[in-house]
Amino acid sequence: MKLSIVGAGPGAADLITVRGLRLIKEADVILYADSLVNEEIFQEAKPEAEVLKTAGMHLEEMVEIMINRLKAGKKVVRLHTGDPAVYGAIMEQMALLKEAGVEIDIVPGVSSVFAAAARAEAELTIPDLTQTVILTRAEGRTPVPERERLAELAKHHCTIAFFLSATLTKKVMKELMESGWSPDTPIAVVYKATWPDEKIVRTTVANLDEDMRKNGIRKQAMILAGWALDPNIHQKDFRSKLYDKEFTHGYRRGVKA
Ligand SMILES: C[S@@+](CC[C@H](N)C(=O)[O-])C[C@H]1O[C@@H](n2cnc3c(N)ncnc32)[C@H](O)[C@@H]1O
Repeated sequence: MKLSIVGAGPGAADLITVRGLRLIKEADVILYADSLVNEEIFQEAKPEAEVLKTAGMHLEEMVEIMINRLKAGKKVVRLHTGDPAVYGAIMEQMALLKEAGVEIDIVPGVSSVFAAAARAEAELTIPDLTQTVILTRAEGRTPVPERERLAELAKHHCTIAFFLSATLTKKVMKELMESGWSPDTPIAVVYKATWPDEKIVRTTVANLDEDMRKNGIRKQAMILAGWALDPNIHQKDFRSKLYDKEFTHGYRRGVKA
């Protein structure tokens, strides 16, 4: 018995991987996570495929369905938004499935963090500015370990991508400033990246909460923060070593200027 866990991508139906789409086409049963999965993808499924929403199910209920269908010899796909490895809650499903002797095959997807960066036309790692991206969330009802407090993480002054934090922007602002981020540090908020109703809001640490409110964004948003999101970054002279004409590497000998 083998179950495929597939990343559906951030929204646009054609941002699923070729492999993920093949599995959807072959599936007898598809269980999908929430409103962030684009239902257009199911047009590619077999007409007789059983397509089930899991938002109203608890863990045991949904795992039981998967196991029953697998035991009946069906091909089962569990579809997750973005990439299943980030905030996908797949580990708890896998624990129960493995206990029942089910093998797992995970197919990655385009995470919303990268879809949002693409839509904001951003590179998250800019040479000489930052070479690190932190993927995190602000603490709300789900606790974040004490040692990962935002005010601590932000001391690195790298790029930070906030998932699941659209209603926690006051907290985000406070903690970023507490760790020394200047109020004018750029932020790009991408609401529903790659969906037809996508919205991109460019703001700063100081104005984040107000601008999110003005634009009515309370969910489904990726908040990308740090100087890599500077809207004027193109005019600044950051260059990578990779394409520097004086830099020698495995594929090219540098020339002295
Ligand atoms: C439960 S997490 C799932 C993340 C997903 N596994 C991924 O890789 O994108 C849901 C959060 O992801 C972000 N998200 C997912 N899809 C998004 C999209 N299309 N645009 C912006 N943010 C998105 C939002 O922060 C949302 O609150």
